[in-house]
Amino acid sequence: MFNGKDTMKNTAVLLGKTIINPGGFTIWLTGLSGCGKSTIADALAEKLQFNGHRPQRLDGDVIRQHLCKELGFSKEDRDENIRRATFLAKLLTDSGVITITTFISPYRELREYARKTIGSFMEVYVKCPIEVCMQRDPKGLYQKAIAGEIKNFTGVSDPYEAPTQPDVLLESDKETVEECVAKIIGKLDELMGAPLQSIA
Ligand SMILES: Nc1ncnc2c1ncn2[C@@H]1O[C@H](COP(=O)(O)OP(=O)(O)OP(=O)(O)O)[C@@H](O)[C@H]1O
Ligand SMILES: [Mg+2]
Repeated sequence: MFNGKDTMKNTAVLLGKTIINPGGFTIWLTGLSGCGKSTIADALAEKLQFNGHRPQRLDGDVIRQHLCKELGFSKEDRDENIRRATFLAKLLTDSGVITITTFISPYRELREYARKTIGSFMEVYVKCPIEVCMQRDPKGLYQKAIAGEIKNFTGVSDPYEAPTQPDVLLESDKETVEECVAKIIGKLDELMGAPLQSIA
């Protein structure tokens, strides 16, 4: 019988080498808007791809455009958004995919729900002072939120419950994107017992 837990033990042939199949895993990035979740996740996915993996990205903006079109930013809608994302991440993870999710996911309870539901899971907190996020403001959203044009904006007019014990802590105002990616890969190696870096 093939199930999610067993994927960690399977072997696979990749690029002519027999390796321990790292199996499925969800890397769950959380943090304020503009902290760098999507930037770091894209760089991580590129690195994993270069090393012969086929990672999948689940991004908040994309999921909201397609799967969660009718949802807004009330607590109920945010929770439903994360429940649907968790469902997708679990399907992918159980199918052996390294799944990298980028949702603000401000509520601790829902992140714990994702961890429990998905199983093979790591929480990555992309920490960044809100002043720096506001300065970056890559989508111009903080400006609108401060002007009152956007309601329920995390960090401005809506809460963000920071992780207290993330599996990986990144400080994107102090560490480069490359350093952040290396820290996540280091943790993956540790948790999965397979040297992802050496697969290329
Ligand atoms: N060390 C760093 N890590 C990540 N991003 C950084 C870093 N230094 C600067 N940046 C910049 O910060 C911005 C982060 O934007 P990004 O869209 O990745 O944030 P996000 O967390 O995905 O936000 P949102 O929740 O709104 O989608 C980018 O413009 C990126 O170039
Ligand atoms: Mg993003």
